[in-house]
Amino acid sequence: MCGIVGFVGQKADALPFIFDGLKRLEYRGYDSAGIALALPQGIAIRKSKGKITLLESVLGSLPPGPCGIGHTRWATHGRPTDQNAHPHTDCHGEIATVHNGIIENFQELRAELIAAGHQFVSDTDTEVIPHLLEHYGGAQDLESAVRQAEMRLKGAYAFLAVSSHEPDKVVAVRRTSPLLIGLGKNENYLASDFSAFLAATRRAVAMENGDMAVVKPTTYQIWDAGGHLVDRPVIEVDWDIKQAERGGYPHFMLKEIMEQPEAWSDCLLGRLDGGRVVSSELGLSNELLSHVSRIQIVAAGTAYHAGLIGKAIIERVVRIPVAVDVASEYRYQEPVLEQGTLVIAISQSGETADTLACVRMAKEEGRVTYAVTNSVGSTLAREADAVVYTHAGPEIAVASTKAYTTQILVLSLLALALAQSRDMARPELVQMLRELPGLGHEVLERMDAVKTMAEKLANNHDVFYVGRGIDWALAMEGQLKLKEISYIHAEAYAAGELKHGTLALIEEGTPVVAIITESTLAEKTVSNILEVKARGGEVWGIVDEKLPSTLPIDHRIDIPMRSPLVSSVLAAIPLQLLAYWTAVTLGKDVDQPRNLAKSVTVE
Ligand code: F6R
Repeated sequence: MCGIVGFVGQKADALPFIFDGLKRLEYRGYDSAGIALALPQGIAIRKSKGKITLLESVLGSLPPGPCGIGHTRWATHGRPTDQNAHPHTDCHGEIATVHNGIIENFQELRAELIAAGHQFVSDTDTEVIPHLLEHYGGAQDLESAVRQAEMRLKGAYAFLAVSSHEPDKVVAVRRTSPLLIGLGKNENYLASDFSAFLAATRRAVAMENGDMAVVKPTTYQIWDAGGHLVDRPVIEVDWDIKQAERGGYPHFMLKEIMEQPEAWSDCLLGRLDGGRVVSSELGLSNELLSHVSRIQIVAAGTAYHAGLIGKAIIERVVRIPVAVDVASEYRYQEPVLEQGTLVIAISQSGETADTLACVRMAKEEGRVTYAVTNSVGSTLAREADAVVYTHAGPEIAVASTKAYTTQILVLSLLALALAQSRDMARPELVQMLRELPGLGHEVLERMDAVKTMAEKLANNHDVFYVGRGIDWALAMEGQLKLKEISYIHAEAYAAGELKHGTLALIEEGTPVVAIITESTLAEKTVSNILEVKARGGEVWGIVDEKLPSTLPIDHRIDIPMRSPLVSSVLAAIPLQLLAYWTAVTLGKDVDQPRNLAKSVTVE
């Protein structure tokens, strides 16, 4: 996820507007930023690695202009450096583009353009766009070049382009990544979301998937994917700036829960091909994958819970033994790391001190280390031998949601890649992965019952979560989410363990959240539920929709499960929302819970 802003007007006001817009979009990405103005003498660009404040220090020398584009980056391809920062230009500095999303076929296009004599200066996928536009004569006729370039690009993205020969227009394309046209007086705007231009207008047009737009100071035209001129409705909002940053949601956590289907699409993008996983997109060679004989996962908190699910998936799919440890413990255990062990460190931030310590320790032992992270350029990404990004986009709420589910997806991809390297491909699971974003939307639409459940849960001091297998791992994440934002005491148990002690705590009305998505274990979990109910416990079930309606649970949330090996992320949604709505009911500070920080860089 990145933030993009465009401005085209009759006065030379582009620069302050774009800079202000970027500051408001900084929550979408903050590892580098840049602005380009389309001036008759050529494109003028300033960009800088780091936060927007660093960009400010280099903007002073930019001449004023009426048309320009800006970008705040959350790196996907290429580390956060000045060179990789957007905007990017063609060879002659006449066209500039900013881009949000991923160009899947950039390597192939880049090779083709280099062969045709184009010179690239960055490692980004984005840079193919201005060169492709140049190739199609974009400096003189940007609109027609964008149309032709569009037919060559694959992926999910949005981009803006300007030309120094046509400083009266911004050409915009939306394919999946969001893009709005803000409607001003004698000036118009473009941005990834409302917050960038809310100070100037509350009226906007949301571009739809496949749309291309030409935006001028007093007009705009939109063509759909079929090339037909279309009228998109003008929307008006009454949000304030903070609400706009959160896409209208009251909290970042809710926004991040709701955008999981998109995050999953981004995470899977370019990594599936027919019935196979594209192993090279996971940062490990087939040779290395085929020689892995053991896996050791290290992580903290929610990332550790993702690791537990990863273990179940890898062991079941490819029969390689996997150990999962909490990083703060593992580093002091003098662990035995056998030859052939791949050490996987999972971390959203890539900065968790204990996880980094484990990676350093494993490297000293001569083992191959592999980072699963959401943060390009993080310490973990730099220090591990290989890295795979979760592509969840920035996660602002302290409680991890979309980072967690994308970590699970990456571990599923890894399991399938390991299997392929041993001629054990599982095309049916690859197909199920493809269906996940659609099913994610379906689950999100069914979540009203969770709100009601949360309102009841909020009156309790203790809540228990139970499950077996992958459902136990989900239970652990469910209880952590509830604890950290609602401050209600919660505990997760392997369902079969209850009778070894914890059952003593169940009394009349004690809430127990039972997760049953592992349908082969359903019968066993049901007998544990009966033990709970016999002691007066009230059972909320998050269950595979295929299970019989007669399950002995008091309140039921159905999940459209395909296989626990790929669908567990769907069951994570009600668990996250349960915690969220409980905290909201209790009036807690959802995005910044007490005593916690987003990134734990100390021991
Ligand atoms: C809980 C949460 C934490 C983190 C943990 C590790 O919602 O976010 O438990 O998962 O602090 O952080 P990363 O993944 O950045 O290493």
